[in-house]
Amino acid sequence: MKRALICGVSGQDGAYLARLLLQKGYEVWGTSRDAEAASFSNLKKLGILDQVRRLSMVMTDFRSVLQAVVQADPDEVYNLAGQSSVGLSFAQPVETLQSHALGTLNLLEVVRFLKKPIRIYNASSGECFGDTGDVPANERTPFRPRSPYGVAKAAAHWEVVNYREAYGLFACNGILFNHESPLRQRRFVTRKIANGVAAIVRGEAKELVLGDLSVQRDWGWAEEYVQAMWLMLQQDDPDDYVVATGETYSLQDFVAEAFRYVGLDWKDYVRTDPSLYRPSDIRTSRADPSYAMRKLGWRAKLKMHDVVRRLV
Ligand SMILES: NC(=O)c1ccc[n+]([C@@H]2O[C@H](COP(=O)([O-])OP(=O)(O)OC[C@H]3O[C@@H](n4cnc5c(N)ncnc54)[C@H](OP(=O)(O)O)[C@@H]3O)[C@@H](O)[C@H]2O)c1
Repeated sequence: MKRALICGVSGQDGAYLARLLLQKGYEVWGTSRDAEAASFSNLKKLGILDQVRRLSMVMTDFRSVLQAVVQADPDEVYNLAGQSSVGLSFAQPVETLQSHALGTLNLLEVVRFLKKPIRIYNASSGECFGDTGDVPANERTPFRPRSPYGVAKAAAHWEVVNYREAYGLFACNGILFNHESPLRQRRFVTRKIANGVAAIVRGEAKELVLGDLSVQRDWGWAEEYVQAMWLMLQQDDPDDYVVATGETYSLQDFVAEAFRYVGLDWKDYVRTDPSLYRPSDIRTSRADPSYAMRKLGWRAKLKMHDVVRRLV
C-alpha cells in the first residue's frame, strides 16, 4: 500500500486530495500546525476524518518537518501548507514568506537528508506570473509577482527546481491558477460572492460590497485540480506544470453570472469600495495549460460558469 503525507490537510485542496488518495487505496497521513486543536472541518464534511492519520507539523520548524516525514514514512509528499491568501499577505508579508519559502526549503532538505526516494509535489501558483496581459502564461514564462504571496510562492517554486537539478530529487511544481469549491475559506472573493448572493436571496442582506471588479482571472474547480497534483507524481520524470482552465473572465463576469443564476441583476445589488482594493494587484491572469493536457492527460472540465453554478 502506498503512503502519502499531505502537508496542510485541513485546507480545501488537502481535503479533496486526501479523499482522492484514499479512493486510490493510499494510506493517507495529513498535517496541521496543531492537529490536537484543529477542527478538520473539511475532512469531516467529506466524511473522511477517521481515515486520515493526523499529525502536528510546522513547516518553518525543521525538526518538526523531519519528525513528521519520518513518522509517516511516505512514498509521496504533497506540500499544500502555508499562508494562502493574497490579500492577507500584504498585512502579513513575513509570515507568508516564511511559511512558503522556509517551509518548502525545510521539506526539500528533510527529503534530501533522509536519502529516500520520496516524491514531492509543491503547490506553486499562477500568482507567480503577475500580470500576464493577453499572452497566456506557460511553464517558460518569467515570473513577475505582484504581491508578497506571489513573491513567496516564486521563491518556493525555484527552491523545488533547484533541488531537482542539484540533488536529483523527484520534485514537481504544480503552477495552479485559482480553483474554488464550497470548502474554500470564506475570505476568498468567490465564496464571498456566493454567500452574498445567497444572503440577498434569503432577504438577509441588501447589498454586496466588493473590491475591483475589472480584474481578470482563470477560475476552475478544486476537485479536478487535485487529480493533476497526483498525476504529476505518477510520471517517469519530475517536472513543472501550469494547471488552469485556459479561460479568463473578469470578476464582473463572475458576479453577473452569480446573480443571473438566481434571476437577479447584479447592478441592483453590488457596490464597489476602493478601500478593498489591494496595494498592487494582477489585472489579467491568463494561462496556457496545454503542457499538462498533453503530458498528464489532464483537462479542466468545469469552467467559470460551472464554478459559479456549483458555488451559489
Ligand atoms: N486555491 C487556490 O486557488 C490556489 C491556487 C494556487 C495555489 N494555491 C496554494 O495551494 C495550497 C493549498 O491551497 P488551499 O486553497 O487548499 O489553501 P487553504 O485552504 O488555505 O489551506 C492551506 C493550509 O495551510 C495551513 N496554513 C495556513 N496558514 C498557514 C501558515 N501561516 N503557515 C503554515 N501553514 C499554514 C493551514 O493548515 P492549519 O491551519 O491546519 O495548519 C491550511 O489548511 C496553498 O499553498 C495555496 O497557497 C492555492
